[in-house]
Amino acid sequence: MAPRLILVSNRVNVPNGGPRQAGGLTVAVNAALKNREGVWFGWSGKVSGDGEPPAVSVTERRHKTFITLDLSETDFQEYYNGFANRVLWPVLHYRVDLAEFTSVDLGGYLRVNGRFADALSPFIKPDDVIWVHDYHLLPLAKGLRARGHSNPIGFFLHIPCPPPDILEALPHDEETMGALTHYDLVGLQTEQDADNLSRYFAGLGANVYRASGLFEFDGRRVRVRAFPVAIATAVYSRAARNSAKSPLVEELRGSLGGKRLILGVDRLDYSKGIPGRIQAYGHFLEKYPEWLAKVTFLQVTPKSRAGVPEYRAIEQEVNGLVGQINGRHGDPAWTPIRYINRSYSRAALAGLYRSAQVGLVTPLRDGMNLVAKEYVAAQDPENPGVLVLSQFAGAAQELDGAVVVNPHEPEGVAAGIREALAMPLDERRDRHARMYEHLAVHDIDRWAERFLTALGEAKERPGLLKGLRSLFAQRA
Ligand code: G6P
Repeated sequence: MAPRLILVSNRVNVPNGGPRQAGGLTVAVNAALKNREGVWFGWSGKVSGDGEPPAVSVTERRHKTFITLDLSETDFQEYYNGFANRVLWPVLHYRVDLAEFTSVDLGGYLRVNGRFADALSPFIKPDDVIWVHDYHLLPLAKGLRARGHSNPIGFFLHIPCPPPDILEALPHDEETMGALTHYDLVGLQTEQDADNLSRYFAGLGANVYRASGLFEFDGRRVRVRAFPVAIATAVYSRAARNSAKSPLVEELRGSLGGKRLILGVDRLDYSKGIPGRIQAYGHFLEKYPEWLAKVTFLQVTPKSRAGVPEYRAIEQEVNGLVGQINGRHGDPAWTPIRYINRSYSRAALAGLYRSAQVGLVTPLRDGMNLVAKEYVAAQDPENPGVLVLSQFAGAAQELDGAVVVNPHEPEGVAAGIREALAMPLDERRDRHARMYEHLAVHDIDRWAERFLTALGEAKERPGLLKGLRSLFAQRA
């Protein structure tokens, strides 16, 4: 029988029967838990008073156990708003300039990781396999090892991993990024990310031994490898077909009055390049006036991390830019940009993607960007839309049929939009077929299998490194 799998992430999405608004991480975790006995452990999303002991709650649903704990107000501020989202998030997205470090927040981050380890520890059985997700929990394996657990523990980073000189800008980086050396396997989104982490690991100290993705630190071994995260391609494609007939999509189509639709869908986050995208759309309207009143740009942007000042600032910036473009180019019968701050279920979004002739995905930096993959999966293969994709999204490494643009160059993005709108049907079909085929093979189930197989192997071959070492010694 397969060993039990324990998934750990900051947020846990306990199914409640309502429509699913799951992000990429939830889709990934669900794929890993599919057909397995499993546990999903993490924060409940609730913040309790500072004096109260953290409540742990256990929910059973269809052979899965969901274990969640609340955070106190101080933990929430220091760990989540503070170190995770004001230091790690910007630095790992190459924005050292936005990082606001305090040692109090770092202390809170390490303390909450210790709380997670304490709360999880009693549930761990000797045969369990543990898989930890994302930047909130970098030191968790170290905490679990210190509590005596020698289980296989893997880690997957959903966001980018910058080069060592940027990682080293993190104060006390050895306590956070350096703690990744306590996992058996660390998975990254792209080869470039894996290479960056490998170079960082190689620089960590004198007792580091490195052999193609395998590292040894004072007797501990860790593997580093790329596992580009994926989507449930066939399921998503079906959802898009069905939802294309939904009232939401019918109404949208009716309201467009035959205009082409350009669609952007992102959390409101400075890494997503939303202001630059809006400016690029403004350039597009100015440079190619033949498209005036013939296109509508719909930007769907749920608000995010309201407790972090940088997110409030981006909200104002985007509101201002949308107003400028609509004021300048709009007329009584046409609003050039429709900007919406609410979130939609995955099924509803799938229908919107299928209705859009252009998917505009222009992050300044993104680990993968599953919107790009979902947009491709949602298209009608007979008459597909075109993906305009930032070269700085991990997805650009795989989606070779996209129109790839540099989000820092508004004229280039504007030209990309025009190219996408003008692309002949044959070319659209060819590009789409190529990308869909790739996504159909490299789907989320395969991603989870590949990671778990590699984690099993990482733990199973204790003699491997010794063997490699003696081999190299003989050759030298
Ligand atoms: C990114 C991260 C996830 C995170 C999500 C939403 O995709 O990789 O770990 O859950 O953003 O952010 P939030 O702060 O709302 O959990």
